[in-house]
Amino acid sequence: MDDESGVESHPRNGRTVDPPPAFTDQANVTAAEAAAFAEDWPDCWDEAGEMLDWADAYGTVFESGDGNGRWFPDGRLNASVNCVDRHLDERKTQAAIKWIGKRGERRTYTYLDLYHEVNEFAAGLRSLGIGEGDVVTLYMPAIPELPIAMLACARIGAPHNVVFAGFSAAALAERMERSESEFLVTCDGYYRRGNAIHQKNKADNARISTDHEVTDVVVVERLDDESVRLGEDDHAYDGLLADHRGEEVDPVSRAATDPLFLIYTSGTTGEPTGVRHTTGGYLAHAAWTSHAVLDLEPADTYWCSADIGWITGHTYLVYGPLSLGTTTLLYEGTPDHPEKDRVWEVIERNAVDVFYTAPTAIRAFMKWGTEHPDSHDLSSLRLLGSVGEPLNPSAWSWYYEHVGGEDCPIVDTWWQTETGAILLSTLPGVDAMKPGSAGPALPGIDVTVVGPTGAPATATEGGRLAVTKPWPGMPLDLETDGEGDDWRYVTEDVARIDEDGYVTVLGRLDDTVAVGNHRLGTMELESAIADVEGVAEAAIVDVRDGEAENTIYAFVSTDERHECEQRLRDRITDSVERTIGPFAVPEAFVFTPELPKTRSGKLMRRLLKDIANDGEFGDTSALRNPEIVGEIESALERM
Ligand code: WT7
Repeated sequence: MDDESGVESHPRNGRTVDPPPAFTDQANVTAAEAAAFAEDWPDCWDEAGEMLDWADAYGTVFESGDGNGRWFPDGRLNASVNCVDRHLDERKTQAAIKWIGKRGERRTYTYLDLYHEVNEFAAGLRSLGIGEGDVVTLYMPAIPELPIAMLACARIGAPHNVVFAGFSAAALAERMERSESEFLVTCDGYYRRGNAIHQKNKADNARISTDHEVTDVVVVERLDDESVRLGEDDHAYDGLLADHRGEEVDPVSRAATDPLFLIYTSGTTGEPTGVRHTTGGYLAHAAWTSHAVLDLEPADTYWCSADIGWITGHTYLVYGPLSLGTTTLLYEGTPDHPEKDRVWEVIERNAVDVFYTAPTAIRAFMKWGTEHPDSHDLSSLRLLGSVGEPLNPSAWSWYYEHVGGEDCPIVDTWWQTETGAILLSTLPGVDAMKPGSAGPALPGIDVTVVGPTGAPATATEGGRLAVTKPWPGMPLDLETDGEGDDWRYVTEDVARIDEDGYVTVLGRLDDTVAVGNHRLGTMELESAIADVEGVAEAAIVDVRDGEAENTIYAFVSTDERHECEQRLRDRITDSVERTIGPFAVPEAFVFTPELPKTRSGKLMRRLLKDIANDGEFGDTSALRNPEIVGEIESALERM
């Protein structure tokens, strides 16, 4: 690490909230169980391994040695058996996947339905010559055929490579090349705000743009659109199923350390990097955290609002809930269509027990107003989750009060594409919650923060968050440092660990700002601003003004209510002074109706940085709302 100095550490008004007793009484994990689990690394993870069905039982939980070591190294299993077959005895007729389509369509797959379709599609894939170890790229929106294709690949031991449906042809081509994938499953298209998006055309363009050979393409026909015709070599999904109707495919037993899938990290900065997750360790970690953190049970209806194209959807929409035999809801629409109460309506109508979403969504709900959740019966909810960035205290409180009715614990879960599954979170029936802090490392997980030289930083000093013991969901080829007791995976996140072990994520190292000679986490500053009444979201960038000290600009999106900008600015200044210090008050404020976001919902801070620094900015094609760039530029000019 270079001369990145420590991150400022700031006192917080450390409000803690105990889990509601009604929840604690029924929680999947008790304090005594958690304490026992934490004692005994790595063997504690046997409990996670035990949650799965193995074709060949493992004798060893963790074997150190080569590289990062291996989990359940002598065990063999199949992920589709764990997510489908093994539930047939007890819940053949229970819903496995409930799908709500963009045009209001509804489709329910029982575990038995899922069994048939996964087998038939697996037989179809086999008939195309796809076998164990072949990488199959899946390029589809939130339609049931996507998780079915994932499970069919898993059944025949073919690692899947899901590419987010909103990616361009070029991005798809790059990911297929990098993963040496010759097979593609896509759809003809889908609807976005009423318009048909021709997914198949993007897939064809990807095929044309690369020398890489794509042998077979399977197309799910989703649009009733005659203009999209399958090519001679394309295979219709439904046709393939019909050809293999009633067939069963023996599940291929895979070594626990064989890859289950590949996934590319978001790629908003730098190059897309492929991460390969394992069949045994990953699935065990996904199942255990779904049980212990999300508190899932087979009887639950569970809604994870993430897209399957990202790791959250893989782990907590597909593999985690299905491995436990839960009903997982797959929602294709947008949260504000037809009305801004859509999410609450879906929760009410489906009696959702557990809801898992992202802070950016929660802040949007806040902005739309409490009347939307208030007009629905949300009493089916038992637990709420958050992932993706820090959940700032005001968003936390809103979620707690207006969605959870002060009856549901909130788990603010920290993890990454690279970690595969949750590493930091309160256990919902055990730990007190601290709004703004993700919580302690889960039992069986060890973390620390390291300073600029790589040495451990003192407890409450900021530093890079590092995981100091291997965890079951760690991927193949993870880049780590050291060996034995010095082994660690150092993340790009800057965090602070309090005396009680609670971790507060302050920002990404690549997203910190220099203020004078201080280095500050953008996330902490942004949350101090976002906590101000009238503010929806905030983005901080640093501006280098010749030889002068670095200054920071705040881009602030405001509530729908019209607010006097000067008053808002004063309130923000107050809040930043109070929670961080006067030195951190931004030099300039740019008020805007929206911040520039990628299609995956990530803030495009780099773009704001470029606009603020020299007005020159690169490609905006990754933006969901490119029109906002011009508005921001003119707001800056007016300053
Ligand atoms: C980065 C990982 C893991 C699924 C979603 C994103 C940030 C994630 C939290 C949280 C603060 C969080 C971190 C992390 N992050 N969850 N609860 N509190 N920050 O996966 O694209 O791999 O991003 O998201 O910066 O490193 P990803």
